[in-house]
Amino acid sequence: MKEQLYILFCESPFQTNKVDEDFEDQFISAKENGFETLLFNFEDLTSADRFSVVTKRIKQNEELATVIYRGWMLTPKQYSILYNELLSKNYKLINTVEEYQNCHYLPDNLRFIENRTPKTVFEKFDSENSIDKLIEKSKIFGQKSVILKDYVKSEKHDWETACFVLDASDTDKLKQTINKLIELRDKYLNEGIVVREFVELNNLTIHSKSGMPLTEEYRLFFCNKKILGIYDYWEEGEYKHSKPDTTEFEEIAKRVESNFFSMDIARQKNGELIIIELGDGQVAGLPDKTDRNEFYKQLQICCC
Ligand SMILES: Nc1ncnc2c1ncn2[C@@H]1O[C@H](COP(=O)(O)OP(=O)(O)O)[C@@H](O)[C@H]1O
Ligand SMILES: [Mg+2]
Repeated sequence: MKEQLYILFCESPFQTNKVDEDFEDQFISAKENGFETLLFNFEDLTSADRFSVVTKRIKQNEELATVIYRGWMLTPKQYSILYNELLSKNYKLINTVEEYQNCHYLPDNLRFIENRTPKTVFEKFDSENSIDKLIEKSKIFGQKSVILKDYVKSEKHDWETACFVLDASDTDKLKQTINKLIELRDKYLNEGIVVREFVELNNLTIHSKSGMPLTEEYRLFFCNKKILGIYDYWEEGEYKHSKPDTTEFEEIAKRVESNFFSMDIARQKNGELIIIELGDGQVAGLPDKTDRNEFYKQLQICCC
């Protein structure tokens, strides 16, 4: 008999036993495509005194079953709590904590994508000294333009002040931008800072609110090494090209140590495709235009 698969969503912060409204459409599509659903309270998990009751509404399962989380990003520590609590109820998340971190933290997944992603340096952030060390490492970029992010997220909507630096050898500007990034990420800063060579991407348009350039990017999902789908990344802008051939990215995906992850790719001005980032598939958002039903249908197929 086919194994019953479960999808775990976050509960609404306002109503018990109801899915968080931001995931309602996915919750419905998951059910329609044969998944059982479970709910947990995200606020419990992320609070210092309630994390141990995070699965309080999940009953003990008779046999060990695989569960896929679809929800808000978690730190590896939060993921580890969730993983162990679920395991004690006989549910095993599709990725171990290590596999989760492999795609969640850019420095952890560079080893899988190094040949197809812009040159990158990074430094864990634990003191003022870390910034100096990072600036030293950034010398490899010479006068090239760079972009900044933490180990997980950028502040791309503050493109000019906290993300993009025109000339990496302008250390004052680099330092100023790193500090702005740290200030904006605040307590949500993930581990450390990453500096990456800026490459010219094929423009679609300029974001109507933030002024950030929107470029030809796609989000791919992989489950059990199989490609689930390729989706236009931005909701604004016109994708004139037909969807790119993903064969070479499917090859790279086979080496990625994760059972469910996303891969963002972008077209450079010279036509070549590169990888922008990987993400754990459980916390990677579905681009707005993605057909939810199709996504969960493909997920069911890839899981079997
Ligand atoms: N090396 C790069 N060169 C040019 N543009 C980039 C580069 N890296 C990222 N970008 C642009 O910046 C955006 C945000 O970067 P990304 O690494 O995806 O951060 P986030 O995790 O915040 O989405 C990308 O969607 C892409 O448009
Ligand atoms: Mg991104």
